Amino acid sequence: MFSSSPFIPTFLLLLSLPIIFLLAPRILPPRQIPISLPDELDDLALFQKASSEALSHKTWSRSQTSSSSSYPSSKSRLGATNTKPKIAFLFLTNSNLHFATLWEQFFGNTSHNLYNIYIHADPTVKIDPPGGVFQDRFIPSKPTQRSSPTLISAARRLLATALLDDSANAYFALISQHCIPLHSFNFVYHTLFDLKMSKMSRFPEFEFRSFIEILSNESTLGDRYNARGKNVMLPEVPFEKFRVGSQFFILTRRHALLVVRERKLWRKFKLPCLRVQSCYPEEHYFPTLLSMEDPNGCTHYTLTRVNWTDSVNGHPHTYRPPEVSPELIYTLRQSNSSNEYLFARKFSPDCLNPLLEIADLVIFKD
Ligand SMILES: *[C@@H]1O[C@H](CO)[C@@H](O)[C@H](O)[C@H]1NC(C)=O
Ligand SMILES: *[C@@H]1O[C@H](CO)[C@@H](O)[C@H](O)[C@H]1NC(C)=O
Ligand SMILES: *[C@@H]1O[C@H](CO)[C@@H](O)[C@H](O)[C@H]1NC(C)=O
Ligand SMILES: *[C@@H]1O[C@H](CO)[C@@H](O)[C@H](O)[C@H]1NC(C)=O
Repeated sequence: MFSSSPFIPTFLLLLSLPIIFLLAPRILPPRQIPISLPDELDDLALFQKASSEALSHKTWSRSQTSSSSSYPSSKSRLGATNTKPKIAFLFLTNSNLHFATLWEQFFGNTSHNLYNIYIHADPTVKIDPPGGVFQDRFIPSKPTQRSSPTLISAARRLLATALLDDSANAYFALISQHCIPLHSFNFVYHTLFDLKMSKMSRFPEFEFRSFIEILSNESTLGDRYNARGKNVMLPEVPFEKFRVGSQFFILTRRHALLVVRERKLWRKFKLPCLRVQSCYPEEHYFPTLLSMEDPNGCTHYTLTRVNWTDSVNGHPHTYRPPEVSPELIYTLRQSNSSNEYLFARKFSPDCLNPLLEIADLVIFKD
């Protein structure tokens, strides 16, 4: 009889072990994409190029007060007399740019002397190439995955590319495919630059600041800190220095440069997490780095509104078409900081038409 022999169950058990190992990757949640050495070296080369070129000429944020300000880079010398700082819009996506038509209206007939667009799109996903202002704005991209440090790499790739591309890029705004504008381009531009330019002339020490959320007292911080194993972040990142904040930020050129030159913290943040449900490296790397290096150069709040009420599985509330209304836009703009919100997420793709309907009369009217 089968059960009479104690060897048979043991044998079956041993036999099943390799099968479990083979099947495990299919049964368990998807593993994180590790950052391969070639990818890491590619990025390093790009970041090094960006930091050395950016340092080799004076950048906008340092030379803006001089009345004869002209950009020392080759690009600006060729261009006639572009003395205006630009906003670099960095679109980070792994799907179609659902709201491309709305953004198209946002940019409208704004002069290209005032902004640039860069898109990082996951190359493993088929994306309908958007036209208009988005045409040919894709940068060399690598695969991205939620709950993994690939999202940090993608953001740094966007920052480095934009730093290199145009020395007039003075602010760098990270945007996702689920973000929408809450105001006109003019309003955004004036919010970022106007007040500062007038203050600059009177108080030369006044510096541009980055709009990035930096929080230190969230209840999940301990789990997030130990997501790679207990105290793995030491000694580079002591728990008291560990911060959290929105993944979507607007950085100054000085801070964009700081981020692409950074090596020390990245050694820890690039490690895969043991617990995926506590793993959101991109929500920690940027706020932690900037709060360690230059807390006074940051507002500590973001200009991108997110609704975390009833969040599910780490996703914020996603607005659906019936919720879209002029009142929603007015509500989402309101903030407790000294600036109104400029952008909001997260909106489902089918909100496009209801948003377009109120675009001229509500969103871009300010
Ligand atoms: C954009 O176009 C509108 C009319 O289509 C015009 O009134 C406005 O002055 C233009 N704005 C710029 C910045 O050229
Ligand atoms: C975190 O700190 C800020 C400012 O100190 C405070 O307003 C907020 O209520 C705190 N939040 C939590 C969750 O303790
Ligand atoms: C935030 O989302 C909740 C549902 O999760 C909704 O009831 C609430 O109205 C939203 N708040 C705003 C300001 O849209
Ligand atoms: C502003 O602060 C109040 C009180 O803390 C809070 O109830 C409200 O939700 C905040 N509004 C926004 C837009 O964050």
